[in-house]
Amino acid sequence: MKTLDFIFLLGLSSSLLGASPSDKETPLKEIREIGEKSSTQLLKTLGKNMKQHMKSGGALEALDFCTNQAYTLTESVNAKLPKGVSVKRISAKYRNPTNQPSADELAVLEIFENMKKANIVLPKALVQKRQDHLYKYYKPLVIEKKVCLRCHGHNINAEVKKEIVNRYPQDSAINYKLHDLRGAIVVEIDKRVKQ
Ligand code: HEC
Repeated sequence: MKTLDFIFLLGLSSSLLGASPSDKETPLKEIREIGEKSSTQLLKTLGKNMKQHMKSGGALEALDFCTNQAYTLTESVNAKLPKGVSVKRISAKYRNPTNQPSADELAVLEIFENMKKANIVLPKALVQKRQDHLYKYYKPLVIEKKVCLRCHGHNINAEVKKEIVNRYPQDSAINYKLHDLRGAIVVEIDKRVKQ
């Protein structure tokens, strides 16, 4: 995995960091640890709640949950993270405009997409150095469960679809298949702040 990051990034972009031993001045190990911990925290929190709502009320109730609480829950995870660290979800085909990637973030999503197209196994994460002290940790999000397709797939139940369009008139987060790249979790880490 580390070799994969490294080889790939050498060829593509000098601002993306793999596990290069030449990055001695970079606290890469620490960045990766903070990134992994924070992104897992968000994934677990959202996943657990989504599962509960799917179980108790099906896709419509879970949809309510996503609309009303995905953002609030993300904020509550952020409140518990160390100072200078924040986490969010992004997607090139987003449902909620809040999750629209910036230009640098979109570039990394495209890298993940191109890797998939070239049958390269996606790395667990990539680290992007934005400025001297500012890093972004990107964890690719691939659709691994069929349940995701109930709200992001081709054949969405008519009632659910209607509710989605009501809430997100500009929605583009549909027509995904199993194993498609859905987006990424991004953890921003500012090393000027002591974590
Ligand atoms: C019950 C419907 C439903 C299911 C099932 C569902 N989602 Fe979503 N998803 C949503 C809604 C609604 C949003 C927008 C949330 C918001 O407003 O913040 C969303 C947003 C997202 C986002 C943020 C990017 C964006 O498009 O705004 C990602 C990433 C995502 N979903 C991935 C998944 C994955 C992976 C699964 C399966 C584990 C999944 N979703 C299952 C309804 C669903």
